[in-house]
Amino acid sequence: MNAPDNQKRMRSEQGNYRNEPKLLAHECSAHYADIKATVVQTHRITSNVSIITLECQAIAATAKPGNFVNIKVKDSTLPLLRRPFSIHNVRGTLIDIMVKSIGPGTTLFSDTTEGTAVMVLGPLGNSFDRTSEEFQTAVLVSGGIGTAPMLFLEKTLAEEGKKTINLIGGRTKDDLLSQNLSNCRFATDDGSSGFKGTVVALLRTELPALNNEGPLKIFACGPNPMLKALAQFCNEYQLPCDLSLESVMGCGIGICYGCSVEVKNPSGGVRTMLLCREGPVIDAKLLIE
Ligand SMILES: Cc1cc2nc3c(=O)[nH]c(=O)nc-3n(C[C@H](O)[C@H](O)[C@H](O)COP(=O)(O)OP(=O)(O)OC[C@H]3O[C@@H](n4cnc5c(N)ncnc54)[C@H](O)[C@@H]3O)c2cc1C
Ligand code: FES
Repeated sequence: MNAPDNQKRMRSEQGNYRNEPKLLAHECSAHYADIKATVVQTHRITSNVSIITLECQAIAATAKPGNFVNIKVKDSTLPLLRRPFSIHNVRGTLIDIMVKSIGPGTTLFSDTTEGTAVMVLGPLGNSFDRTSEEFQTAVLVSGGIGTAPMLFLEKTLAEEGKKTINLIGGRTKDDLLSQNLSNCRFATDDGSSGFKGTVVALLRTELPALNNEGPLKIFACGPNPMLKALAQFCNEYQLPCDLSLESVMGCGIGICYGCSVEVKNPSGGVRTMLLCREGPVIDAKLLIE
């Protein structure tokens, strides 16, 4: 399905900012599909986190790391609205979603079984920016379910010849999600695994050694307070950093205005952006501290 007029209007409005590259959404999906997909596999990895695999050829073919999909379990009326999920992995015609059950929408999706039909709108949003800065090593910093987009990102960066290191944080060792990721270092608030403290404190500790790995770029996803602390750190050390932000979302395509967030305007002041269209990934320099 082609992007609706409203998206085209927004994209043409974005054209006004052509000389302000980091304000623009990076590779925002111009085309998305609304597909009836089938759950082909479910795999519970912790008491409340599952990987759900969907046969979704059209979305798998065009997805980029950082994109998300908006999902509704078919025939369910509760919840009425779709729920947004990062694309965890792409395997041929399949996409994997890592879902943490925290409320009605995520629990309904977590509890699906093989053969369940779901409506999947995507790929949506922009992607992590892997090209605009020169870097040799990507440091993937994630917290809690924020680790969800990191596998697809790590795989893609590795194919592009980059070294990747994962710094993964959680409240306790039970919150650390590192399935299939390589080169992982851990931080927990209670010290039950790895470094005792936040994942940003871990980055601070590791930075002198990481600086030996060539120019760095940080890619991050996690709770907004973590991202705020990380943005401050990266701005202080002048490290390029992309953040995948979270907000409550409705439509996922720029219609409901449910996902508006305030960010810095590079030319001064503050402006409102729709996270589903111009995000979820933003340059850390734009985050309001
Ligand atoms: C771009 C994007 C990508 C996401 N990717 C994933 C993913 O890969 N895996 C995953 O498990 N979850 C992901 N989420 C979060 C997920 O969409 C929410 O957890 C889900 O919408 C909650 O729905 P619910 O019906 O289960 O709970 P609700 O009853 O809707 O919410 C339960 C509680 O969580 C809060 N909440 C709901 N949505 C969000 C949100 N987006 N951010 C912060 N707090 C929220 C509510 O205010 C409420 O307090 C993503 C969110 C966004 C915006
Ligand atoms: S979720 Fe509806 S405008 Fe962004």
